[in-house]
Amino acid sequence: MRRPIVAGNWKMHGSREENARLVAGLVDGIGHGGAEVIVFPPAVYVAEVVRLAAGSAVAVGGQNLCTEAVGAYTGETSGAMLRDVGASHVLVGHSERRTLYGESEATVAVKFVAAQAAGLVPVLCVGESLEEREAGVTETVVARQLDAVVALAGLGAFVQALVAYEPVWAIGTGRTASPDQAQAVHAFIRGYFSAGDATLGDQLRVLYGGSVKASNAAELFGMADVDGALVGGASLKADEFLRICDAAHSVGGRG
Ligand code: 13P
Repeated sequence: MRRPIVAGNWKMHGSREENARLVAGLVDGIGHGGAEVIVFPPAVYVAEVVRLAAGSAVAVGGQNLCTEAVGAYTGETSGAMLRDVGASHVLVGHSERRTLYGESEATVAVKFVAAQAAGLVPVLCVGESLEEREAGVTETVVARQLDAVVALAGLGAFVQALVAYEPVWAIGTGRTASPDQAQAVHAFIRGYFSAGDATLGDQLRVLYGGSVKASNAAELFGMADVDGALVGGASLKADEFLRICDAAHSVGGRG
């Protein structure tokens, strides 16, 4: 049984006031059970959001972490610091980190290992660009992104990790992958892990990200290998995000 997950990546949005309102809305509306819910505020707000969400079913994660555990790395945040203030998860290899901040596959792999070393659950983000999809190399690209992490961390490390498939062309564009397009890549990702370890492949939760909204969540969650969503823009409104969580509840519990 794979419990569905709905995660909200706030990206660089929010303020103390907006966060308080958003978290209050989530805490009010969220039940226990059903989908696992995680929000990813900007690093500077993680500690406060942890406090705001305390005692609720909402978990909190970081959007990024440093490759290093401690030291002279001005401007960076370590996995241990995120853990120290109560984060449980961290995004690794989000496409905005890869493309805007030049994170290589090797760096992403080191961050994945650093996250686990700090006791955080990494959410490894993978996905192809529009040019790559049109060139028919989606699976090659996704496999290469997974290979880089597996080579360093080992396949077994994914027992304590999540994978998010986020086609770059669907992020913030309003252009969602169709349920069939998402399912095809999710099945490929599951197959990648099943080939090495059938149980791991069965249990691994793979989230879809890219213009998920309340209006399209249910049909995406209806696909056999889609175990939830990593939501950007639609996670900034409590009612919209809660409706996505409801959609996950009603299709949850497959696998
Ligand atoms: P949008 O839902 O805004 O397309 O963002 C997706 C995303 O990048 C989540 O990490």
